Amino acid sequence: MITKDMALAHVVKDYPQTIGFLNRLHLDYCCGGHDPIAIAVAEKGLDVEQFLEDLNRAVSRPVSSGKDTHADVEAFRKRSIPAMLDDLEATHHVKDRTLMRQVEDDLNKILIVHYPHHGKMLTELHSRYAKLKAALEEHFAREERYVFPLMRDTMPPTGTARAEVQALIEEHTAAGDQIKAIQALTENFKLPSDACPTFRLTYQTFQDLFDDIFVHIFKENSIAFPAYLELR
Ligand SMILES: [Fe+2]
Ligand SMILES: [Fe+2]
Repeated sequence: MITKDMALAHVVKDYPQTIGFLNRLHLDYCCGGHDPIAIAVAEKGLDVEQFLEDLNRAVSRPVSSGKDTHADVEAFRKRSIPAMLDDLEATHHVKDRTLMRQVEDDLNKILIVHYPHHGKMLTELHSRYAKLKAALEEHFAREERYVFPLMRDTMPPTGTARAEVQALIEEHTAAGDQIKAIQALTENFKLPSDACPTFRLTYQTFQDLFDDIFVHIFKENSIAFPAYLELR
Protein backbone atom coordinates (compact mmCIF):
# COMPACT_ATOMS: atom_id res chain seq x y z
CA MET A 1 0.00 0.00 0.00
CA ILE A 2 1.48 3.33 -1.08
CA THR A 3 0.90 6.30 1.24
CA LYS A 4 1.30 10.05 0.81
CA ASP A 5 4.44 10.14 2.99
CA MET A 6 6.38 8.01 0.52
CA ALA A 7 8.62 9.57 -2.16
CA LEU A 8 8.00 8.74 -5.83
CA ALA A 9 11.61 7.57 -6.28
CA HIS A 10 10.98 5.03 -3.52
CA VAL A 11 7.63 3.96 -5.02
CA VAL A 12 9.21 3.28 -8.43
CA LYS A 13 12.06 1.36 -6.83
CA ASP A 14 9.58 -1.01 -5.15
CA TYR A 15 6.92 -0.92 -7.89
CA PRO A 16 8.46 -0.25 -11.31
CA GLN A 17 5.11 -1.07 -12.92
CA THR A 18 4.01 2.46 -11.88
CA ILE A 19 6.44 4.16 -14.32
CA GLY A 20 3.94 4.33 -17.20
CA PHE A 21 1.26 5.84 -14.95
CA LEU A 22 3.67 8.46 -13.54
CA ASN A 23 5.00 9.32 -17.01
CA ARG A 24 1.47 9.99 -18.24
CA LEU A 25 1.01 12.51 -15.43
CA HIS A 26 4.48 14.01 -16.06
CA LEU A 27 5.54 13.36 -12.48
CA ASP A 28 9.23 13.24 -11.72
CA TYR A 29 10.28 10.00 -10.03
CA CYS A 30 13.94 10.09 -11.00
CA CYS A 31 15.88 13.37 -10.80
CA GLY A 32 13.88 15.21 -8.15
CA GLY A 33 11.62 12.44 -6.94
CA HIS A 34 12.53 12.59 -3.28
CA ASP A 35 9.71 14.79 -1.98
CA PRO A 36 6.79 13.03 -0.25
CA ILE A 37 3.88 12.29 -2.60
CA ALA A 38 1.67 14.76 -0.70
CA ILE A 39 3.98 17.61 -1.78
CA ALA A 40 5.04 16.45 -5.27
CA VAL A 41 1.48 15.70 -6.38
CA ALA A 42 -0.06 18.86 -4.90
CA GLU A 43 2.61 20.91 -6.72
CA LYS A 44 1.27 19.53 -10.01
CA GLY A 45 -2.22 20.67 -9.02
CA LEU A 46 -3.50 17.10 -8.68
CA ASP A 47 -5.81 15.72 -6.00
CA VAL A 48 -3.59 13.73 -3.63
CA GLU A 49 -6.26 11.26 -2.44
CA GLN A 50 -7.43 10.52 -5.98
CA PHE A 51 -3.82 10.14 -7.09
CA LEU A 52 -3.10 7.60 -4.32
CA GLU A 53 -6.18 5.61 -5.23
CA ASP A 54 -5.16 5.50 -8.91
CA LEU A 55 -1.54 4.73 -8.07
CA ASN A 56 -2.47 1.84 -5.78
CA ARG A 57 -4.70 0.52 -8.53
CA ALA A 58 -1.77 0.74 -10.98
CA VAL A 59 0.31 -1.34 -8.54
CA SER A 60 -2.25 -4.11 -8.21
CA ARG A 61 -3.00 -4.29 -11.95
CA PRO A 62 -1.16 -7.11 -13.70
CA VAL A 63 1.85 -5.83 -15.62
CA SER A 64 0.90 -5.39 -19.25
CA SER A 65 3.10 -6.71 -21.99
CA GLY A 66 4.38 -4.65 -24.90
CA LYS A 67 6.42 -1.74 -23.67
CA ASP A 68 7.31 -3.57 -20.48
CA THR A 69 9.26 -1.13 -18.35
CA HIS A 70 8.68 -3.25 -15.27
CA ALA A 71 10.48 -6.32 -16.66
CA ASP A 72 13.19 -4.07 -18.10
CA VAL A 73 13.92 -2.47 -14.71
CA GLU A 74 13.81 -5.82 -12.92
CA ALA A 75 16.28 -7.36 -15.40
CA PHE A 76 18.53 -4.31 -15.02
CA ARG A 77 18.55 -4.64 -11.23
CA LYS A 78 19.88 -8.21 -11.45
CA ARG A 79 22.98 -7.28 -13.47
CA SER A 80 26.50 -6.77 -12.13
CA ILE A 81 27.60 -3.12 -11.94
CA PRO A 82 29.83 -3.27 -15.07
CA ALA A 83 26.97 -4.98 -16.94
CA MET A 84 24.58 -2.21 -15.82
CA LEU A 85 26.94 0.44 -17.21
CA ASP A 86 27.32 -1.46 -20.49
CA ASP A 87 23.56 -1.77 -20.73
CA LEU A 88 22.94 1.96 -20.13
CA GLU A 89 25.35 2.82 -22.94
CA ALA A 90 23.91 0.26 -25.36
CA THR A 91 20.24 1.10 -24.74
CA HIS A 92 19.33 4.52 -23.31
CA HIS A 93 22.36 6.43 -24.58
CA VAL A 94 21.78 5.19 -28.13
CA LYS A 95 18.00 5.68 -28.04
CA ASP A 96 18.14 9.14 -26.43
CA ARG A 97 20.70 10.40 -28.93
CA THR A 98 18.47 9.24 -31.81
CA LEU A 99 15.36 10.84 -30.31
CA MET A 100 17.27 14.06 -29.56
CA ARG A 101 18.28 14.37 -33.21
CA GLN A 102 14.70 13.76 -34.36
CA VAL A 103 13.31 16.37 -31.99
CA GLU A 104 15.94 18.88 -33.11
CA ASP A 105 15.08 18.42 -36.81
CA ASP A 106 11.31 18.50 -36.32
CA LEU A 107 11.42 21.42 -33.90
CA ASN A 108 13.33 23.47 -36.45
CA LYS A 109 10.69 22.62 -39.08
CA ILE A 110 7.74 23.72 -36.93
CA LEU A 111 9.63 26.83 -35.79
CA ILE A 112 9.76 27.96 -39.42
CA VAL A 113 6.25 26.90 -40.47
CA HIS A 114 4.41 28.08 -37.34
CA TYR A 115 6.49 31.19 -36.64
CA PRO A 116 3.68 33.60 -37.63
CA HIS A 117 1.27 32.34 -34.95
CA HIS A 118 3.46 30.61 -32.36
CA GLY A 119 6.84 32.32 -32.83
CA LYS A 120 7.29 33.46 -29.24
CA MET A 121 6.62 30.07 -27.63
CA LEU A 122 8.46 28.07 -30.28
CA THR A 123 11.51 30.32 -30.10
CA GLU A 124 11.71 29.82 -26.36
CA LEU A 125 11.14 26.08 -26.72
CA HIS A 126 13.83 25.90 -29.40
CA SER A 127 16.44 27.63 -27.29
CA ARG A 128 15.56 25.76 -24.09
CA TYR A 129 15.75 22.48 -25.97
CA ALA A 130 19.11 23.39 -27.53
CA LYS A 131 20.51 23.94 -24.03
CA LEU A 132 19.10 20.66 -22.72
CA LYS A 133 20.40 18.71 -25.73
CA ALA A 134 23.90 20.18 -25.37
CA ALA A 135 23.94 19.40 -21.64
CA LEU A 136 22.80 15.81 -22.18
CA GLU A 137 25.24 15.15 -25.02
CA GLU A 138 28.09 16.38 -22.83
CA HIS A 139 26.77 14.34 -19.90
CA PHE A 140 26.57 11.12 -21.96
CA ALA A 141 30.10 11.68 -23.31
CA ARG A 142 31.38 12.25 -19.78
CA GLU A 143 29.75 9.05 -18.57
CA GLU A 144 30.98 6.95 -21.48
CA ARG A 145 34.48 8.30 -21.79
CA TYR A 146 35.38 9.14 -18.23
CA VAL A 147 33.13 8.26 -15.28
CA PHE A 148 31.88 4.79 -16.31
CA PRO A 149 35.44 3.58 -17.17
CA LEU A 150 36.59 5.03 -13.84
CA MET A 151 33.83 3.11 -12.05
CA ARG A 152 34.68 -0.16 -13.83
CA ASP A 153 38.34 0.30 -12.82
CA THR A 154 37.81 1.37 -9.20
CA MET A 155 35.77 -1.06 -7.17
CA PRO A 156 35.21 -0.21 -4.35
CA PRO A 157 35.03 3.51 -5.18
CA THR A 158 37.84 5.91 -4.32
CA GLY A 159 37.14 9.46 -3.17
CA THR A 160 37.54 10.74 -6.74
CA ALA A 161 35.15 8.16 -8.17
CA ARG A 162 32.57 8.99 -5.50
CA ALA A 163 32.81 12.69 -6.27
CA GLU A 164 32.44 12.06 -10.02
CA VAL A 165 29.33 9.92 -9.52
CA GLN A 166 27.89 12.57 -7.23
CA ALA A 167 28.53 15.19 -9.94
CA LEU A 168 26.56 13.05 -12.43
CA ILE A 169 23.63 12.89 -10.01
CA GLU A 170 23.68 16.69 -9.76
CA GLU A 171 23.67 16.95 -13.56
CA HIS A 172 20.60 14.69 -13.61
CA THR A 173 18.83 17.10 -11.26
CA ALA A 174 19.71 20.03 -13.52
CA ALA A 175 18.44 18.12 -16.60
CA GLY A 176 15.23 17.26 -14.72
CA ASP A 177 14.68 20.96 -13.99
CA GLN A 178 15.21 21.82 -17.67
CA ILE A 179 12.71 19.12 -18.67
CA LYS A 180 10.14 20.44 -16.21
CA ALA A 181 10.56 23.97 -17.60
CA ILE A 182 9.86 22.62 -21.12
CA GLN A 183 6.80 20.71 -19.88
CA ALA A 184 5.50 23.91 -18.24
CA LEU A 185 6.21 26.03 -21.35
CA THR A 186 4.28 23.62 -23.60
CA GLU A 187 1.57 22.94 -20.97
CA ASN A 188 2.66 19.30 -21.03
CA PHE A 189 2.77 19.22 -24.82
CA LYS A 190 -0.74 20.50 -25.39
CA LEU A 191 -1.16 20.94 -29.13
CA PRO A 192 -2.49 24.26 -30.47
CA SER A 193 -5.73 24.01 -32.48
CA ASP A 194 -3.87 24.75 -35.74
CA ALA A 195 -1.18 22.08 -35.18
CA CYS A 196 -0.08 20.25 -38.33
CA PRO A 197 1.02 16.57 -38.38
CA THR A 198 4.69 17.61 -37.94
CA PHE A 199 3.75 19.62 -34.84
CA ARG A 200 1.97 16.53 -33.46
CA LEU A 201 4.94 14.31 -34.29
CA THR A 202 7.40 16.72 -32.66
CA TYR A 203 5.44 16.77 -29.41
CA GLN A 204 5.06 12.97 -29.47
CA THR A 205 8.80 12.48 -30.00
CA PHE A 206 9.52 14.98 -27.22
CA GLN A 207 7.37 12.88 -24.87
CA ASP A 208 9.00 9.62 -25.98
CA LEU A 209 12.40 11.22 -25.33
CA PHE A 210 11.46 12.52 -21.89
CA ASP A 211 9.86 9.19 -20.90
CA ASP A 212 13.05 7.37 -21.85
CA ILE A 213 15.29 9.90 -20.09
CA PHE A 214 13.26 9.42 -16.90
CA VAL A 215 13.74 5.63 -16.97
CA HIS A 216 17.40 6.15 -17.88
CA ILE A 217 18.06 8.51 -14.97
CA PHE A 218 16.05 6.34 -12.61
CA LYS A 219 18.27 3.35 -13.43
CA GLU A 220 21.40 5.40 -12.78
CA ASN A 221 20.27 7.41 -9.73
CA SER A 222 18.30 4.71 -7.93
CA ILE A 223 19.92 1.42 -8.99
CA ALA A 224 23.39 1.53 -10.58
CA PHE A 225 24.96 4.46 -8.71
CA PRO A 226 23.74 3.48 -5.20
CA ALA A 227 24.92 -0.11 -5.84
CA TYR A 228 28.34 1.25 -6.76
CA LEU A 229 28.56 3.74 -3.88
CA GLU A 230 27.64 1.00 -1.40
CA LEU A 231 30.61 -1.20 -2.43
CA ARG A 232 33.11 -1.64 0.38
FE1 LIG B 1 23.48 7.74 -18.76
FE1 LIG C 1 23.46 10.07 -16.42
